Amino acid sequence: MFVSKLIVFFQLLGSLSFVLGLVLGLPVIQVGFNDRTISKVEADMLQIAEHSWELGTACEAEAELASPALSVFRASAFPPPTHLNPAITGNSTAMIDIATNIVETKVPGTLPLTDGDGAVGDPASLGVAVLLANWTRDDLSDDSFSVAAQEQLDYLLTGAPRTEDGAISHRDTQVQLWADFVYMAPPFIAYYGALAGGAVGADLLQQAYDQCRLYRNYLRDPIGLWRHITLGNGTDETHWGTGNAWAAAGMMRVLQTIRHSEQAQAFQSQQEDLTNWIHEIVSAAWQFQQANGTLLNTIDASPWDSFADSSSTALLAATTYRLATITFDFSLIEFANKAMDVIRRSVDDDGWLQNTVDPETFNTPSLPGEHSPEGQAFVLLLHSAWRDLAEWMVGALPP
Ligand SMILES: *[C@@H]1O[C@H](CO)[C@@H](O)[C@H](O)[C@H]1NC(C)=O
Ligand SMILES: *[C@@H]1O[C@H](CO)[C@@H](O)[C@H](O)[C@H]1NC(C)=O
Ligand SMILES: *[C@@H]1O[C@H](CO)[C@@H](O)[C@H](O)[C@H]1NC(C)=O
Ligand SMILES: *[C@@H]1O[C@H](CO)[C@@H](O)[C@H](O)[C@H]1NC(C)=O
Repeated sequence: MFVSKLIVFFQLLGSLSFVLGLVLGLPVIQVGFNDRTISKVEADMLQIAEHSWELGTACEAEAELASPALSVFRASAFPPPTHLNPAITGNSTAMIDIATNIVETKVPGTLPLTDGDGAVGDPASLGVAVLLANWTRDDLSDDSFSVAAQEQLDYLLTGAPRTEDGAISHRDTQVQLWADFVYMAPPFIAYYGALAGGAVGADLLQQAYDQCRLYRNYLRDPIGLWRHITLGNGTDETHWGTGNAWAAAGMMRVLQTIRHSEQAQAFQSQQEDLTNWIHEIVSAAWQFQQANGTLLNTIDASPWDSFADSSSTALLAATTYRLATITFDFSLIEFANKAMDVIRRSVDDDGWLQNTVDPETFNTPSLPGEHSPEGQAFVLLLHSAWRDLAEWMVGALPP
């Protein structure tokens, strides 16, 4: 196919480490990863993803990478096909296997999809994959996926603690808001709504948008970056790189879900807001990009008070590429290209992303020999966003 030949062409020229221009007026796009490296990054991710949010993020990475026709970044997202057909829907084996395993091992009598280590939002990150497994299942008498997704939604909307103005808490034992929540729960609520359609669906799309709006109200600082954790005991006031990446990328998925749903026309102002709020984060973050393209773990800290973090760099670059295909504003592409360059140099021969933050401490680098499951997923999300932008620029994808 023409497009894949073009991408192979980019990759060949990539060995020269040049940034390529396409057509006059369009931005240059950085050379990306080759398929062999991506396969290793993917296998490594599937090997070490374990916690609920890691598995949920792995599912989203699998959708965007291996089953793009099923992902919310394609107009084909709604309604999804009723059967999986690898020729059309790609290889969704890993994603469906994770969803199946989650539903099969769900503890009876509980509402969340799985144990969230005290987090309300994290188990919901698996919800989109569970809904896709339901929608595409062969055995129509099996309602286990549907019931599990419904119970997860019920827990978010009626079971979990909230602030007085309605922001759903990210924690189950106290009201506390984490930027991470925005990637975990609103994309699921929106996806559920886009599938449901009608008035119920519109209400859920609005609720997904409202959670983004409320979270931004609580977490955003005047410079445009979000604090990590607010309210309750054990807050983190820093502008954590991955927290900002979760927020921007989560809002991007909500935006895409709305855009490709039947409510796209009725939800114009919500789409404008989400677009602006994503832009607000990525444009603020790239002001602090370091010389080699990386961001620091605390985005606006001085280099001696923080450390380079490839995880947040990868997810913010992915979101920046996605944003350009929506806004036609390519002014941030150069930052994403520099980030792509440093991420390519940060993946070792075995497919492991180096220089990651420890995703469980938030404020220390991963120890030697330790790897970040979410960081592995972010590389795949970056690759997928880059691939889609490249294809879109040659006219192979609708905007
Ligand atoms: C589909 O993906 C799974 C899991 O990543 C892999 O084991 C399998 O070989 C793939 N199938 C094909 C036909 O590529
Ligand atoms: C599960 O799929 C069926 C169609 O097979 C659909 O009617 C039902 O609404 C789906 N469940 C959810 C929660 O989306
Ligand atoms: C607050 O959190 C800290 C750990 O972050 C814990 O040691 C302390 O007991 C907590 N205090 C309350 C009142 O829950
Ligand atoms: C990029 O620069 C940072 C210092 O700002 C350094 O810690 C990191 O290792 C560098 N990354 C690569 C891939 O060279």
